[in-house]
Amino acid sequence: MSAAGDLVLDHVSYRPGPMLLDDVSVTFPAGKVTALSGPSGSGKTTLLSVAGGLVAPTAGTATYRGQETWQGDGDPPPEIAFVLQVYGLVPILSARENVAIALRARGTPWSDASDRAEAALARFDIADLGDRQVEELSGGQMQRVACARGLVVGAPVLLADEPTSELDQGNVAVVLGALRAEAERGCVVVIATHDPAIVEAADHHVAIDEGRLA
Ligand SMILES: Nc1ncnc2c1ncn2[C@@H]1O[C@H](COP(=O)(O)OP(=O)(O)OP(=O)(O)O)[C@@H](O)[C@H]1O
Ligand SMILES: [Mg+2]
Repeated sequence: MSAAGDLVLDHVSYRPGPMLLDDVSVTFPAGKVTALSGPSGSGKTTLLSVAGGLVAPTAGTATYRGQETWQGDGDPPPEIAFVLQVYGLVPILSARENVAIALRARGTPWSDASDRAEAALARFDIADLGDRQVEELSGGQMQRVACARGLVVGAPVLLADEPTSELDQGNVAVVLGALRAEAERGCVVVIATHDPAIVEAADHHVAIDEGRLA
């Protein structure tokens, strides 16, 4: 059974050539943190991409609030925010600008976006890096900018693809705490991860192997 605010994949296959997702049915519940684990190449990023409407399933549906997340053009619905595995940051913009972009894209005025971006950076202990160009940051600092950008919009669905892979334990805890807080305000939170500690800390665990639920 799934409830109104859940993200639901129903018999999803994705086969751009090879079979990358094979008949996956899974519900990511609202108000919970779900860990998505599986070996490298098992299909975690692919699953999040279909779930969030970045690519169209070959068969089956991914739906949120009764609407298919694939909207025909690869733009995710406004209810869905991502923390991307390779960060998706603009190297020549500052950390603050990279976070503010997510708000600007949703129509937030510039000064308000900048203030909220600053606050989001502070949640990940990098407020002091707001003026630095992203290309000057370390891998873990970039990863935290990507986390700030994913969370700043306050979307009801947050799909985080290995958001802690570059971080030390202290910062893993900071990111987990922030994602947990999003779930507590009712969000669907999915974290693709290789980290057993995150699987342990999550409310639910979904494992994938070779494109199939394990
Ligand atoms: N468009 C595509 N065409 C063909 N193969 C693809 C395509 N996109 C991804 N793949 C392959 O699909 C498989 C699943 O990739 P995916 O990125 O989903 O894995 P992952 O579980 O996220 O791995 P990692 O833990 O390394 O991030 C891999 O073998 C990858 O090479
Ligand atoms: Mg991946």
